[in-house]
Amino acid sequence: MSRPATQGYSPAQIGLHWVIAALVLFQILFGDWIKDLGRALNRGTTPETATLIFGNLHVWVGIVILGLTLWRLVLRLRRGTPAPAGGNAITLGLMKATHGLFYVLLLVMPLTGLLAWFLGVHDAGEMHEAMKPVFVLLIALHVLAVVWHRIVLNDDTMARMLRPGR
Ligand code: HEM
Ligand code: HEM
Repeated sequence: MSRPATQGYSPAQIGLHWVIAALVLFQILFGDWIKDLGRALNRGTTPETATLIFGNLHVWVGIVILGLTLWRLVLRLRRGTPAPAGGNAITLGLMKATHGLFYVLLLVMPLTGLLAWFLGVHDAGEMHEAMKPVFVLLIALHVLAVVWHRIVLNDDTMARMLRPGR
């Protein structure tokens, strides 16, 4: 996505990054509850209270992630992102691919979930589940890259997502 270059991420961009990251971790860690809820509803049995609460939370948190991601993409288009801290053609390519795939997952994950849950589209549910390991791998790669920047390249990449720029 082409966009203007800025000195750093804005407070809103930084806030959205961390709120979305926390909500995605919640979805991944507690994703099983909605499966239990779906099974109980299909069987016509009464779900346990925890299943009911966490199952429904999965739906609402997912919808919030979708809304916040759209807001984040609008900010990214309007305000831009800072130029990369450094790296060669390979690592910069990897960074672009990782960030791009994150945005794709942040949109496709809630959309497939909604199709599966509200319209009973079976294939959408399969796709939704299949994307879980991709998301986990991507997060691991992303965190490793941040550690790599700190320890090996010794640059301030982490600070860019903590302190707003102009
Ligand atoms: C970014 C947002 C989301 C993430 C990261 C996410 C993540 C997950 C994960 C990790 C699972 C468990 C998969 C497994 O253990 O194999 C799951 C299951 C599920 N999620 Fe989501 N989810 C998101 C949004 C949504 C939304 C908005 C809905 C729908 C309202 C939804 C509906 C479902 C359903 C129906 C299942 C069970 C799938 C099945 O049993 O076939 N998800 N989700
Ligand atoms: C503890 C976990 C995490 C850490 C330490 C972390 C750290 C960072 C840092 C330092 C940047 C700025 C990179 C730069 O300026 O070049 C960044 C960008 C980004 N992070 Fe994370 N992150 C984490 C979790 C996540 C998660 C879970 C997601 C996905 C939901 C995510 C998605 C992104 C995206 C899409 C960008 C690019 C922002 C843009 O330029 O548009 N991060 N992250």
